Amino acid sequence: MSKVKVIVNGAKGNMGKASVQAIENDGELECVSQCDVGSNLMDEIASKSPDVILDFTHPNVVFSNTKTIIESGKRAVVGTTGLTEVQLKELDELSRANNTGVLVCPNFAIGAVLMMQFAAQASKYLHEVEIIEYHHPYKADAPSGTAIKTVDMIHDVSPNVNEHFGDFKQTELIEGSKGGYYKNVPIHSVRLDSYIASQEVLMGSPGQRLTIRHDSMDRMSFMPGVCLAIKKSVDVTGLVYGLEKIL
Ligand SMILES: NC(=O)c1ccc[n+]([C@@H]2O[C@H](COP(=O)([O-])OP(=O)(O)OC[C@H]3O[C@@H](n4cnc5c(N)ncnc54)[C@H](O)[C@@H]3O)[C@@H](O)[C@H]2O)c1
Repeated sequence: MSKVKVIVNGAKGNMGKASVQAIENDGELECVSQCDVGSNLMDEIASKSPDVILDFTHPNVVFSNTKTIIESGKRAVVGTTGLTEVQLKELDELSRANNTGVLVCPNFAIGAVLMMQFAAQASKYLHEVEIIEYHHPYKADAPSGTAIKTVDMIHDVSPNVNEHFGDFKQTELIEGSKGGYYKNVPIHSVRLDSYIASQEVLMGSPGQRLTIRHDSMDRMSFMPGVCLAIKKSVDVTGLVYGLEKIL
C-alpha cells in the first residue's frame, strides 16, 4: 500500500515539528515537504503533489491557507484555531465545489474529545455551565478553539443552558471579570507558562457541581489524532469539524 503523502505547513512551529516527527514515525505516512513563513504553498503543492496538507500555522492566515489547499483540489487537515462559523461554512461550500475535503480539529487529543462529549452529555441534566481554559502565554488567540468547540457541542444538545442568568446581569467592577460569552456560556482564558493545553468544564444544578477536566502536558498527546486525521481525510468530502466525527 502506498504511503499518504503529506505537506506540513507551519513545520517550524511547536505543533509542526511534533507532527513532522510523528508522520516520519508512522509507516503509512510520508512527509514530502516542510513549509513555513517564506514558503510558497501553492508551488510546493504543485511540485510535491501531496495527498494531504496539514496546517498548524496562525489564526490570521489559516483561512487563506485552507482556501489555497482546497482550490488546488487537495485535502486539508487543519489544527490551527481561529476559524469562525462563517469561515467554516465557506470552507465547506468551497471544498464541495472543488470535490475535495477539509478536516478541522480544534483538539486532536482523544482525552479532550472525550471531555467535550461528556460535557455535552452532562448538559442534558446540569444546565449551568462555565469553562476555564489554560494555555501557554504564546497562544495567539483567546478563547481556545477547544472551548468554542465544547460550547458548540453542548449547544447542539442543550441550546438553553444558563437560562438561570435570565435578565439579571451582575455589575462587573472590572470589565471581563465574568468571562467572554459564547452561546450564553462564559469562557475564562488563563495564559500562563507551564501550561500546554488544559480545560475545565464546570457544570451545576441546585446543590451539586460536576467538573470535567482535561490536561495535555505534552504535544505528543495530539499526535495519534493528527496521524489518524491525515489518514481519514483522504476519504472526506466537504467540511468535517471535530476529531470525534472520524473516530
Ligand atoms: N488542534 C490541536 O490539537 C492543537 C493543539 C495545539 C495547538 N493548536 C493550534 O495550532 C496553531 C499553531 O500552534 P503552535 O503552538 O505550533 O504555534 P507556533 O507559533 O509554535 O508555530 C506556528 C508556525 O507557523 C508558522 N507560520 C505562521 N504564518 C505562516 C504562514 N502564513 N505560512 C506558513 N507558516 C506560517 C510560524 O512561522 C511558526 O513556525 C495555533 O492556532 C494553536 O492554537 C492546535
